[in-house]
Amino acid sequence: MKVPVSITVNGRSYLRDVEPRQLLVHFIRDLGGVTGTKIGCDTSQCGACTVLLDGVAVRSCTCLAVQADGTSITTIEGLARNGKLHPLQEAFWNKHGLQCGYCTPGMILASHELLRRNPKPTDEEIRAGLDGNLCRCTGYTNIVRAVREAAAVMAGR
Ligand code: FES
Ligand code: FES
Repeated sequence: MKVPVSITVNGRSYLRDVEPRQLLVHFIRDLGGVTGTKIGCDTSQCGACTVLLDGVAVRSCTCLAVQADGTSITTIEGLARNGKLHPLQEAFWNKHGLQCGYCTPGMILASHELLRRNPKPTDEEIRAGLDGNLCRCTGYTNIVRAVREAAAVMAGR
């Protein structure tokens, strides 16, 4: 059995018939060309699959596509505007907040959520805010620096 869903991804509307069990992360990655969202653990532990659903961060490996019917999703590909990287993307680049990059889309979108809730976080609050996102490469120090820089840029400091 399949059910119709309509989901907007990065400003573009997609109508698809999906199985009720289909995960949102597979819906997104199967659209074609929107594969920045990663699958790490598939069990809601690593944060690699984080996307914004109507502006709020969710783990797309634990959300069904049918639950996202009628919503607007932003993936890492949708964060840049008019060819200009989002300040978080710039800051991760500037501060070398990544190595292999596998966790980075989820890390940046989780950071987006963190700054939405707390635009001026301390380093401790950044670490606490990202404690559900795992990175096997960086040791996190440069990620914290990147979020701190992005917060300053976004606040015009
Ligand atoms: S793949 Fe979704 S939390 Fe790990
Ligand atoms: S940069 Fe490799 S997992 Fe984070």
